[in-house]
Amino acid sequence: MKANVNLVLFWSLFCTSLASNAKTLVVYYSFTNNVHTIVSDLQTQVDADVIRIEPAEKGIDYAANGYAVGSALITAIRNHPNEASSYPAIDPVEVNMADYDMVIIAAPLWWGNMAAPLQTFLFQYGQAMAGKHIGLIVSSASSGISAVVTDAKRLIPQGLFLEPNLWIRSSQTPNCHRMISGWLSDVDYSHITSVASAIGNEPATQMIGRYNLQGQKMSLRYPSGRICLTRYKRGNKIYTKKTINR
Ligand SMILES: Cc1cc2nc3c(=O)[nH]c(=O)nc-3n(C[C@H](O)[C@H](O)[C@H](O)COP(=O)(O)O)c2cc1C
Repeated sequence: MKANVNLVLFWSLFCTSLASNAKTLVVYYSFTNNVHTIVSDLQTQVDADVIRIEPAEKGIDYAANGYAVGSALITAIRNHPNEASSYPAIDPVEVNMADYDMVIIAAPLWWGNMAAPLQTFLFQYGQAMAGKHIGLIVSSASSGISAVVTDAKRLIPQGLFLEPNLWIRSSQTPNCHRMISGWLSDVDYSHITSVASAIGNEPATQMIGRYNLQGQKMSLRYPSGRICLTRYKRGNKIYTKKTINR
């Protein structure tokens, strides 16, 4: 009996420590500060590290000449999306993606696409986000965000994209708090970031893969005694189950 109590105690302590390992990174760019306002509110609702991307070239008015300056950057990327030289330089960013389980990307829309400086960041780091949960928030004046979603999926080819994305029009920025809290609930944010959550093994469940605590995908065969996170997709939602393999 005592052994059982100890086991339960160990297990709950273990689950707590695992839960605190599930970390979120928010990456954003903002030219006229709408996305900055959105991310500032998001920070009041989630525990996350935040990186703001800054273009290397300062003082450019991307909205000048009817947005022609920013749109020219988008054209360069559209023409040659696989070439590093198509992407505008940004200030260096130091981030260890292995520290994060989830990345929320908050992007302005430029000429239908993701704002160019944020695309530069994802061109550099998108491969390192393989196997991570990816949440996408997009701000536009009025245009629909489907091409921004396509950009994100092109630049993070192996991301586990959450559904739905969150679209906040510029005019809705002052009221973003409620939209963000609704979205966090829709994507089941608290569940995803609690790696201690357990799920059943129903037939409708599709296994996505097994990952170590750093978020790196592991092969199905692994050394004994390893802790691993097994991710499942059920409908549009992704669940994580922790297992210890002895
Ligand atoms: C270069 C540029 C191009 C833009 N193109 C569009 C567009 O095609 N459609 C649209 O609805 N909004 C467009 N916008 C407006 C922004 O998406 C919108 O103002 C957004 O809220 C800006 O976010 P920010 O304030 O964080 O920079 C554009 C803005 C810029 C600077």
